Amino acid sequence: MEQKKYKRTLVTSALPYANGPVHIGHLAGVYVPADIYVRYLRLKGEEVFFVGGSDEHGVPVTIRARAEGCTVQDVVDRYHNLIKKSFEEFGISFDVYSRTTSETHSKVASDFFRKLNEDGKFVKLESEQYYDEQAAQFLTDRNIRGECPRCHAPEAYGDQCEKCGATLSPDELINPYNALTGNKLVKRKTTHWYLPLDQYQSWLEDWILKEHKEWRPNVYGQCKSWLDTGLKPRAVTRDLDWGIPVPAEGAEGKVLYVWFDAPIGYISNTIEKLPNDWQKWWCDPESRLLHFIGKDNIVFHCIVFPAMLKAHGGFNLPDNVPANEFLNLEGNKISTSKNYAIWLNEYLEDFPGKQDVLRYVLTANAPETKDNDFTWKDFQARNNNELVAIFGNFVNRAVVLTHKYFEGKVPACGELTDAEKETIAEVSTIRARVEELLDNFRFRDAQKEAMTLARLGNKYLADTEPWKLAKTDMNRVATILNLSLQIAANLSVVFEPFLPFACEKLRKILNVSNIQWSDLGKVDLLSVGHTLGEAVLLFEKIDDAPIDAQIEKLKRIEEENAKANLKADPVKENIEFETFEKLDIRVGTVLDCQKVPKADKLLVFKIDDGLGGRTIVSGIAKYYKPEDLVGKQVCFIANLAPRKLKGIESQGMILSCEDLDGNLVVSAPSAPVRPGSKVL
Ligand code: MF3
Ligand code: ZN
Repeated sequence: MEQKKYKRTLVTSALPYANGPVHIGHLAGVYVPADIYVRYLRLKGEEVFFVGGSDEHGVPVTIRARAEGCTVQDVVDRYHNLIKKSFEEFGISFDVYSRTTSETHSKVASDFFRKLNEDGKFVKLESEQYYDEQAAQFLTDRNIRGECPRCHAPEAYGDQCEKCGATLSPDELINPYNALTGNKLVKRKTTHWYLPLDQYQSWLEDWILKEHKEWRPNVYGQCKSWLDTGLKPRAVTRDLDWGIPVPAEGAEGKVLYVWFDAPIGYISNTIEKLPNDWQKWWCDPESRLLHFIGKDNIVFHCIVFPAMLKAHGGFNLPDNVPANEFLNLEGNKISTSKNYAIWLNEYLEDFPGKQDVLRYVLTANAPETKDNDFTWKDFQARNNNELVAIFGNFVNRAVVLTHKYFEGKVPACGELTDAEKETIAEVSTIRARVEELLDNFRFRDAQKEAMTLARLGNKYLADTEPWKLAKTDMNRVATILNLSLQIAANLSVVFEPFLPFACEKLRKILNVSNIQWSDLGKVDLLSVGHTLGEAVLLFEKIDDAPIDAQIEKLKRIEEENAKANLKADPVKENIEFETFEKLDIRVGTVLDCQKVPKADKLLVFKIDDGLGGRTIVSGIAKYYKPEDLVGKQVCFIANLAPRKLKGIESQGMILSCEDLDGNLVVSAPSAPVRPGSKVL
């Protein structure tokens, strides 16, 4: 597909929630790719504006504040500053990094809502929501907990069960309660403003499915499946006390839904930085809008926000939304709430000055088309075998030898061998190769391609061995070093989007400052006689010890989490003694046990109950082989009304013990007793 002509590019990256520090998953999925792209455009001399900021509304920050016993403002202040600092440290080169608690944002978001409301773009709908009478507040899905209807974990959230992964709605929870206070909940009527996405369905179908077939398959596919299911009106307000008050009559106690105000934050942050010039970026049809996000944000950026922009009118729509899949960590899901992550601030404490190593490894493993895994061993290997052994080694050899033989001045290039002519031909294609990939948001392959240049240089020096020629043929040495230094100069440009810190160092080593992207591929970037800077190492080897320490740290967190998860279920309501007395529990001996045909969970037992025998069907086939139970004693409820299971009448229930991790064992007397004995 031919690329649309554009004059300038506005790049946004998802506003991270200010409820915790940022971790490598954020960096890999959103900020590093966005930064690579922006640096690339800047190097090419294109006009680009890169927007970032913290997302400071929503429920997670309020939960964090409760947990830490401080105000919500304290939480967002602390994490906003921490996140902002981490991004600076990692060279994420925002043109603006602001926050959704800014005054500008609250005005811009309110105005946006007001306009849509006045233009009749919302519908108001009444619904029943869970309400905590004691706390006098409505609860959002995340603040409601209860028993999971699927796996019966006791503390599932109103939107999801973390144990079995099921997506839930609060209505499905068994015995819902307020996650913060523990109070029982009632249903109460409330009115909210909805964006009627159904009215945008066919417009979105045309715009995405017909006009944006070039979007990444994962993005296009997710949009298609949302559209195929059929869009429904979405509430854009919430009953909460943290957020931007809804600027409408009858909206007391209501705030804008975080997913309504946050994307408007892209606009407000632009306005904050460019109060007189922002329209050029957002409204001029010759400006291109790109959203860098993770896959959990696709629906909001491809469907909801565009519908909001369309409803408002006057704004550009995103041209592309290069969303990434997720990065896992040592084979497990990264989780902020479980503290299972590599936090950027902690990484820098443990590996000071090694920002580029992380940037490199995250791009090499970028989850562009599928979820990917970060492992510390791979991190170490890529640093040692690629950055140090190839890129760093090549540059260092070329520079050190030039200092040694030519007093640090670029020597003249003599006659070229055929192999050298081929090398130069290969260098000359580097720009086109990398551009093609970057233009298509294929950062991982683009970095790989850039690395071919370092490999080429490294191999060239290894093949020609100039250190062996110094005594016999200084002309050859001069030629080899000249060409090597030219390749090194190319590296300082082609890697600039990916490894900005190393490239800055490299430019110092080469004592150059003004090489352009358009110079890429040339081998006359350094003139003869040009004086190099001091030779310092670009990258350093990483030993086993710090890597093993990181692996240990993650294992410890995993173990702690596993233990914390194994909490016993809360005890059910008390019952009267008379109720208990009604139960007749007996011991029986298993005479026979078989699988129930066509029911993978069920076993059918013949039990000697001391009264002529009975049949019991039990759902424990997953945990036992039938033959292993024959001859064993079990406890069973003898007076449970019989019921049919798969056509077999079950006359009672075998008692099993469920372990905290979900395993089952049948209960049995501690020593053999006569069949029919009572359990008291
Ligand atoms: N805070 C959201 C998240 O981390 C992203 C918000 S992106 C924006 O998932 F578009 F809403 F700003
Ligand atoms: Zn569950």
